[in-house]
Amino acid sequence: MRVVLGIDTSCDDTGVGIVDAASGAVLANVVASQDAVHAPFGGVVPERASREHLRVVDDVARRALADAGATLDDVDAVAATYGPGLVGALLVGLSWAKALAWARGARFHPVHHLAGHLASAGPPDPDAGGATPPELALVASGGHTSLFLVDGARHAREVGRSRDDAAGEAFDKVARLLGLGFPGGPALAALARDGDPDAVALPRPLRGQAGYDFSFSGLKTAVAVRLERDPDLPPADLAAAFEATVVEALVDTLRRAARDHGVDRVVVVGGVAANAHLRAALADTGLRVRVPPAGLATDNGAMIALAAWQGLGVTADAAEAWTRDAAPYLPLDAAARAAS
Ligand code: KG4
Ligand code: ZN
Repeated sequence: MRVVLGIDTSCDDTGVGIVDAASGAVLANVVASQDAVHAPFGGVVPERASREHLRVVDDVARRALADAGATLDDVDAVAATYGPGLVGALLVGLSWAKALAWARGARFHPVHHLAGHLASAGPPDPDAGGATPPELALVASGGHTSLFLVDGARHAREVGRSRDDAAGEAFDKVARLLGLGFPGGPALAALARDGDPDAVALPRPLRGQAGYDFSFSGLKTAVAVRLERDPDLPPADLAAAFEATVVEALVDTLRRAARDHGVDRVVVVGGVAANAHLRAALADTGLRVRVPPAGLATDNGAMIALAAWQGLGVTADAAEAWTRDAAPYLPLDAAARAAS
């Protein structure tokens, strides 16, 4: 058996995934959450994240190999996130991956974190002519909310982005206002299930504006103001109204961008793509929607192995790959340029 081992330590979770080098199937995907480490601080503490990656990375990799029924002898290539993310956290995974690849004589692939998210939904289905169709890709996570137009060669051009908070970040901040735990997205979504989204009117950010940008910090402030004015508002109603407003903003912008660019295929990835309400709204658009399978939406190592396997944002220059530094700020199209 030949496998690609992928590792992501871009933020607060240590992820190692194993992909079959022949078929591209995900054989294992182990993520060690650091939520308990950061929860007392209400957000990610970068230095603690780095130290925790260092502490657990061997064990996470060992578990991933065991789950896949593979050994180190089977590792054909090693892929690691090199950016964007917390620099200390990135350096742990990147150094670990290089050391493993070097010791095993395996290929080494530095992967852009967002290329990993894009790969998590699988390669696009070829169209009738066998070509890769263009599509719109929405990355909605805790660190990013960006809309990309991805062409047939799978080069991504950003056409819109959040001007302030990322969608997942807004979920986390509003969850905090409502006294829910960290990370807030899943907790807020669970609370919203019992709420009435129409019980509270919230402003729809950037409604009616041209372009495909997003903005979520004003919405978060609107929730804070409503709570302050009316502390007895049922939290479930507020959560449902907030979630519905974010979903509407994402889906409307996506639908408009699809129409304007003449594409009917969209891929939605990142932690927020785990949101059931968003998935349901996407299914109603009439667009051909791809989303990652369960477990691959939030940060993980399998998506990094998948990007390497799909050749997404991966450099063909093997010597250059070994010298790639951790890059805390890194536009996706810069990575694509380096790769081509
Ligand atoms: O992709 P990801 O794991 O990390 C980043 O690269 O940022 O995304 C994490 C984000 C967090 O902000 C989390 O609250 C959000 O995704 N999230 C959700 C849900 N699950 C995770 N947001 C809304 N609904 C969910 N079900
Ligand atoms: Zn991510």
